[in-house]
Amino acid sequence: MSRLVNGVRSFSTTASSLLADATSASRSVTQPSSSSFQVFRDVPSLRQLRHQLLKNERTVGFVPTMGALHEGHLSLIREAARENTDIFVSIFVNPTQFGVNEDLSSYPRTWDSDVEKLEKLNDELGRTGAPGAGQITAIFAPTSKVMYPTLPPSSEIDGQGSFVTITPLSSKLEGGSRPVFFRGVATVCMKLFNATTPDRVYFGQKDVQQTVIIKRMVQDFLLDTKVRIISTSREADGLALSSRNVYLGDRRRAVGLTIYKALKAAEDAYLSGKSTRADILGAARSITDRVLSEQEALSPSERALFEVDYISLADPDTLDELDLVDSAKGGVLSAALKMAPLEENKPGEDCGLGEGKVPVRLIDNLILQPRA
Ligand code: PAF
Repeated sequence: MSRLVNGVRSFSTTASSLLADATSASRSVTQPSSSSFQVFRDVPSLRQLRHQLLKNERTVGFVPTMGALHEGHLSLIREAARENTDIFVSIFVNPTQFGVNEDLSSYPRTWDSDVEKLEKLNDELGRTGAPGAGQITAIFAPTSKVMYPTLPPSSEIDGQGSFVTITPLSSKLEGGSRPVFFRGVATVCMKLFNATTPDRVYFGQKDVQQTVIIKRMVQDFLLDTKVRIISTSREADGLALSSRNVYLGDRRRAVGLTIYKALKAAEDAYLSGKSTRADILGAARSITDRVLSEQEALSPSERALFEVDYISLADPDTLDELDLVDSAKGGVLSAALKMAPLEENKPGEDCGLGEGKVPVRLIDNLILQPRA
């Protein structure tokens, strides 16, 4: 069934709509100024559209997401619209990138508001009317069975299945605490790229290790697509946007900003001429240590405790830890903070989705640019 929202046609996920999606694929191609997009649940109908676009010499920019869209995702789509005639966005919460002890079911799923945001953005992109300005043509929202057609997707470290593994990059940093994460990301991205065959793919700088791994995968597997990395979208105070921020609530959000402040302090040390690991990471550590001891001194109803998983200074291509920044190459500063569940909620306090009980992993990074 299709419905009209502000003149934009979108599709529900019933079988009849899927048929409509597949059969109307070529109509999108012949109406480039329309702001409608179609929702695809399977690969053949999406491929049919992709072939039509190729025949018409149109270009596809692909933005993979797990939904729960925020301004960061929209900025990737805006960038894709500048460089391509058509944008494909995928919404798929990929089970294989969640470890067995990570709660896949608690990942935010916000389909209706995601579609609404994309419709609004498509209207905006349509209004700008710049020659060559692209619009969203397809939302790819497959089922797990479509993405993992033979074996059930496994999150076990030694699980069976067809996986893409990029080593040793995948075992560093985030991979230390999340051993299957990048195997899942590389595997699903390979599948998504195969299904969409994009001219360009768009990833946010926020997940820096993911960007390095995707670039390596594209290079090593000779994939015919260009990887574009778009700078991190932040709140006014610097907190990096993330789909998981909805779980923070006021208290943990305020303390969680420590990750950005610590990275900033490290960046400032580099910008002021420091090059050694001790000087650069020491500046970050002094911030996290201070905030943690301040929090520990507070009562359970006032504090938000956290654990620093890592603060890293690494080579931009290999992610090997650096003792000294090569000023011709620069480096990557990155960190992960585990915000613990609140011990005690105060009456009337905004504790976020899940009432402060959901642990939240915050990651962030800053790039140290080569010094001229
Ligand atoms: O960054 C994400 O949201 C996910 O890791 C991605 C790239 C969509 C793969 O599931």
